[in-house]
Amino acid sequence: MTGSDAAQVPASWTHLRRWPDIESPELRAWDATDQLLLQHGLQQAATEGLCGEHVLVLGDRYGALTLGLVEAGLRGVVSVQDSVALLTALKANADELGMAGFSTFSSLDEVRRPAGGGFGLVLWQLPRSVAEVEYWAVALRGLVADGATVWAGGRDKHMTPAMNKPLERWLGPVQPQRGRKKSRVLKVSAGGSSLVSVAGPIDSDAASRVLYPEPRTVLVAGNRITLHGDARVFGQNRLDPGTAFMLEKIAENDIDPEPGQRVVDLGCGNGTVAVWAARRWPDIRVDATDDSAAAVAATAASARASGVAEQVRAVTADAGEHLIPPLGEQPSHAEVSPRLVLVNPPFHQGAVVERAVGEKLLFAAREIAGRGGRVIAVWNSHLRYRAFLRENIGQTRQLGRDATFTVTETKV
Ligand SMILES: C[S@@+](CC[C@H](N)C(=O)[O-])C[C@H]1O[C@@H](n2cnc3c(N)ncnc32)[C@H](O)[C@@H]1O
Repeated sequence: MTGSDAAQVPASWTHLRRWPDIESPELRAWDATDQLLLQHGLQQAATEGLCGEHVLVLGDRYGALTLGLVEAGLRGVVSVQDSVALLTALKANADELGMAGFSTFSSLDEVRRPAGGGFGLVLWQLPRSVAEVEYWAVALRGLVADGATVWAGGRDKHMTPAMNKPLERWLGPVQPQRGRKKSRVLKVSAGGSSLVSVAGPIDSDAASRVLYPEPRTVLVAGNRITLHGDARVFGQNRLDPGTAFMLEKIAENDIDPEPGQRVVDLGCGNGTVAVWAARRWPDIRVDATDDSAAAVAATAASARASGVAEQVRAVTADAGEHLIPPLGEQPSHAEVSPRLVLVNPPFHQGAVVERAVGEKLLFAAREIAGRGGRVIAVWNSHLRYRAFLRENIGQTRQLGRDATFTVTETKV
């Protein structure tokens, strides 16, 4: 941190950690977007005499915004974050700093509109996709008060002018603000539930289509499956081409679990892999898990729609940690049995972290598979994970490769 940065940030930020997310000396737990959002938010809260119960934080990372507001004296702030790792980081930082007086949720569905008309102030670290911005804007509409202000920000490189359209359509007029250190914020003057959008009256069918998209039925590697998923979920309700390629290679190479062996869909997204596995192997149980609460909900919905809800257990967890017996503890029989882990690791993240994020899941896959288990992975061939798998997990063979993807089987 430079001297001028230190002067402008809340004292709590100097102690913020990213754990359990990836940590390294060059990765900080707050950024210039947090600074801009907090500055605008605190100014507005002071001018309008807002109390914390009327302040909503969306997409906070590591607690910078939530704890910045608490440090400034606002009590009762509501903070919503879909990622369990980021929510855990927020809580761990709050515990470490002895800070309380806020509540956390993983979805806006769980949040009640506060008395007195709704939230008057929203601080929002924007997601990167326009479709996801639209999802959250629709979900926010019923929770904000007439005349509320939504401060929405992000890094310049992750924001596009196309984001203004859904914000205007579902919330209200957008005024871009002056940027700072490659970050920018938008001031959205929200009209709450009585809003008549600039594009005309709000169409509630259109809102439902954004919040609850129709499921999609696809045929993949011999099995028909039905996929749910809104814009918060990787691939939404669609079949990812890399995943389809992995499932085809599993079928072509006659890869099967041993009788009674558990199969794990690590980073399950909309549940394509879990549901496909449950259909292909009707006698096995599948553990599906993802860091995103929305993904886990989508997986459970896909399993129900595909008629395999009994076989699929979907749990929100960081890198499947609930499937790894804690060091020194006697694992149960189900925990010791080697498992077949299927994984399509994330790679669409920021340039520095992208590899580390994927590697974190692959290390977890090794622990979850256990000695004698197997890890089947699909990855963009340019990521060259083969050496990594061989050096860190075990003997690795290629099951298939095309112009884009490689599928491997690694024995632990
Ligand atoms: C490339 S997507 C694959 C999704 C799905 N399996 C499919 O094939 O369509 C990677 C998934 O990993 C999840 N993910 C990323 N980091 C994670 C973590 N630390 N723990 C668990 N899941 C994670 C993402 O939320 C995302 O759903």
